[in-house]
Amino acid sequence: MEIKKVAVIGGGTMGNGIAHVFAMNGIPVNLIETKQEFADRAMATIEKNLDRMVAKEKIVSEAKVATLESISVFLNIKEGVKGVDLVIEAVPENLKIKTSVWKAVDEAAADHTIFASNTSSISITKLAGLTNRADKFIGMHFFNPVPVMKLVEIVKGLDTSEETYQVVEETSKLLAKVPVPVNDMPGFVSNRVLMPMINEAVFAVYEGVATPEHVDDVMKLGMAHPMGPLRLADFIGLDVCLDILNVLYEGFKDPKYRPCPLLVKMVDAGKLGNKTGEGFFSYH
Ligand SMILES: NC(=O)c1ccc[n+]([C@@H]2O[C@H](COP(=O)([O-])OP(=O)(O)OC[C@H]3O[C@@H](n4cnc5c(N)ncnc54)[C@H](O)[C@@H]3O)[C@@H](O)[C@H]2O)c1
Repeated sequence: MEIKKVAVIGGGTMGNGIAHVFAMNGIPVNLIETKQEFADRAMATIEKNLDRMVAKEKIVSEAKVATLESISVFLNIKEGVKGVDLVIEAVPENLKIKTSVWKAVDEAAADHTIFASNTSSISITKLAGLTNRADKFIGMHFFNPVPVMKLVEIVKGLDTSEETYQVVEETSKLLAKVPVPVNDMPGFVSNRVLMPMINEAVFAVYEGVATPEHVDDVMKLGMAHPMGPLRLADFIGLDVCLDILNVLYEGFKDPKYRPCPLLVKMVDAGKLGNKTGEGFFSYH
């Protein structure tokens, strides 16, 4: 099966990037948002990011125009998923919102349509169970910023069919991404490995082992990480890191994932990283 048209639900940080890469690689996109102003903001972001690619001579300006022209905006799930081969959901990480979206998609999509969620931490098997096609449900976990990051962690739910996996793997390669298969367990591989590292870096600060600058220096200069764990935590959002650690903690019932009290305190204080201007580092 060839994916000829996709619907992307949610045009936020991840959704606009996902729409961008599909459209730029010749697969037309229906971008579904809740309000015209959010859709306009998503399209403006895509245009700005394409302009940057033109300026860096990564694409020609005709490709920018063609990319923008192959994205159509919809404010209604029923209309937006009509006639597409793949639906990718990138709405907020909230089970209530995702449940209502997947119920609506399941009612409206054609029988052959594959369903993919970009969730970072919710069980793919659980989301698949909201629909009547668990065999055609899969996780496509893209990374931020989507046009730049190569990885797509492809998450197989308990009932995801091999055929669904193959189609999604091929499609990811068409986007010039590198698909990596993983099974559905809390945190998949990416967050299961990353979040305990970030949490341990926070513990090192909490226990007075080193300052945030020095923790990050050790990991950058000694381990060749391009960005230190605390700078990365600020970039991801400390609230998002805490939520994911709690998913790991609850999912495995294992104290090794216990969020550091300093992380909890910083989230309580509204110091969430880049998005609030302050986290382990200051962005004012
Ligand atoms: N931000 C990241 O770094 C990152 C990385 C990987 C995966 N994810 C996952 O991607 C998903 C989206 O995250 P995000 O950071 O892009 O969130 P975001 O808040 O930036 O964007 C979500 C968008 O969904 C829209 N939306 C909400 N309800 C909707 C509905 N019913 N129909 C259509 N659109 C709706 C919102 O208007 C918003 O524009 C989450 O599941 C998150 O866990 C995020």
